[in-house]
Amino acid sequence: MSKGKFYITTPIYYPSGSPHIGHCYTTVACDSIARYKRMQGYDVMFLTGTDEHGLKIEQKAKEKGITPKQYVDEIVEIFKKLWKYMNVDYDRYIRTTDDYHVEAVQKIFTALYEKGYIYKGEYSGNYCTPCESFWTDSQLDEDGCCPECHRPVKQAKEEAYFMKMAPFAERLEKLLTETDYLRPKTRATELVNNFIKPGLEDLCVSRNSFKWGIPVPFDKDHVVYVWVDALSNYITALGYDNDAYDDYDKFWPADVHMVAKDIQRFHAITWPAILMALDLPLPKHLAVHGWITFNGQKMSKSLGNVVDPFVLGERYGADSIRYHILREMALGADSSFSNEIMINRINTDLANGLGNLVSRTVAMVEKYFGGTLSTERESGEFDDELIAEAEALRGKVDEYIDNTQLNNALAEIFKLVSRANKYIDETTPWILGKDETKKARLASVLYNLLETIRIAATLLSAFMPSTMPLVFEQIGASESDTSYDNAGRFGVLPLDVTVKKGAAIFPRIDVDKEIEELNAIIKKNAEAAQAEAKAAEKPEESKPEGVALIGIDDFAKVELKTARIVNCEPVKKSKKLLKLTLDDGANGRTVASGISQYYKPEELVGHTVIIVSNLKPAKLCGVESQGMILAADCPNGDVKVIFADDIPAGSKIR
Ligand code: MSP
Repeated sequence: MSKGKFYITTPIYYPSGSPHIGHCYTTVACDSIARYKRMQGYDVMFLTGTDEHGLKIEQKAKEKGITPKQYVDEIVEIFKKLWKYMNVDYDRYIRTTDDYHVEAVQKIFTALYEKGYIYKGEYSGNYCTPCESFWTDSQLDEDGCCPECHRPVKQAKEEAYFMKMAPFAERLEKLLTETDYLRPKTRATELVNNFIKPGLEDLCVSRNSFKWGIPVPFDKDHVVYVWVDALSNYITALGYDNDAYDDYDKFWPADVHMVAKDIQRFHAITWPAILMALDLPLPKHLAVHGWITFNGQKMSKSLGNVVDPFVLGERYGADSIRYHILREMALGADSSFSNEIMINRINTDLANGLGNLVSRTVAMVEKYFGGTLSTERESGEFDDELIAEAEALRGKVDEYIDNTQLNNALAEIFKLVSRANKYIDETTPWILGKDETKKARLASVLYNLLETIRIAATLLSAFMPSTMPLVFEQIGASESDTSYDNAGRFGVLPLDVTVKKGAAIFPRIDVDKEIEELNAIIKKNAEAAQAEAKAAEKPEESKPEGVALIGIDDFAKVELKTARIVNCEPVKKSKKLLKLTLDDGANGRTVASGISQYYKPEELVGHTVIIVSNLKPAKLCGVESQGMILAADCPNGDVKVIFADDIPAGSKIR
């Protein structure tokens, strides 16, 4: 009999690049909860998917010379392949380009408009022309420049639709402070103080400067802007305002939305406000986790530290990776990923802890009983403690699952694994095995170990679904022995259980060798990413053939001079810029130049270069650049600064 329904969702991911280990965290966490709930007897709906509209996708597709739909189709396949590879068993996958979602979002937008919550206005803000993006003040970099390309932004305006937020402020504050919607609750104060108390800003819900989005049904110049489109997925995927599915009444409201901290605000404020405006019930819980960082740094393609789950899975198995990321991340906090920590964790917990417990126990049943336990029993010291701990485990894990604290659930299970390993040391079965009169006691000890393994592995099967069946096989547990109900009691395996020795479930990893190989992969990835970035920059910078002819008057407007580089250093906040201090034959000047990929500072100092000396100064990543130095884009993709070493600094070029 069903225990009721359970609806859990991940965010829908932007298919703007290959998924990495950071994307895996939420999906694997939701998958583990969904599996656990299914095991408990709930009727589960686990939803994930992709958020496929927006300017970024439109631009990337253009760069590749394909349509946005072709572009997202390719990447969605990689996401789906990854989820399969990571043993993620979702019930439904939504793509925001699916017809039913498009139709439903148009109805939702119209309903909000007709209820008077949406109005037409003007979006004004910091606009970066090269990136074609608006940025809020808080998104700008430390110099007030574009957070993506670090070039100056300008104030710009665009016609847009807005959703009124003020009518929901009071209810939202109560939701965050008086209910247990938000997890961890400690985050409520920051949301209330930063966004609600100062007065909620109306939400921009349409754009008219790009086309790749869901058209606003009553104003075709506009597309629905990201959040109304994206957030609605949680209800359209159930069939809300569409005929593709019929699960809304059964599954809504969601039991758990899980997201990372960067999109917490949209799920804690925007989404409940949209639901309030539509008069729909609110989700029960929003679980917010931190970011997986790499050695404490943000993951970034150009650093080569975007941890590729396919590479790790290939080397250590998908279940070990699942275990590692779930065990390391505490709800609400960041978790620093490092290859060393991962390998040590796998070796300590999985190879030495669980793997060793299984192989030692099974080997002893084979050695002392020929593989099938005899049925006489004799209890002894330490048994009661082990049995009590094993029987209490399920209740503790249930609670942690219900509070979305998966790291604690795993820690609890591995406490029992350690307890069982200690029980082996306490009961010394290898000594009992030497004495024929201790056979019954030995059978009890080994049976207690098999039972403890059965309970731990049953509960673990939600987290490591492909390896736990191998444990069940080795300890001779049938399908019904490993049900959720049986995980709550001791003494389920038959007294004469037959074990089956198999290969090591979690082989020990050679730490030094693996670290060396993984570091080599990171280095290679970083080089490949840099080469790719360089190649991507070229078309923009190289002038098309047949550029417009200019007259001598135009050329005369450009003042070119020689200048000697007296100092050179990297610009801290930029991966591309070098700051050059120049002797220009006059007062001296500073120039920032995007050549750090091609030159080390010491290779430039002492050389004389040509500068455009009458360029308007511009602030680049905190450095005021007074001019630019001339460099050549070589046909092989290299960039070479033009040196004029035998010409005195300050000479005018004509
Ligand atoms: N499309 C939006 C979500 C819309 S939900 C209605 C989006 N997509 S995303 O692909 O950029 O990010 C999806 C989720 O992955 C976010 O919760 C994001 O924080 C998470 N992660 C991306 N990198 C991450 C890590 N390195 N670590 C943990 N999660 C991170 O935002």
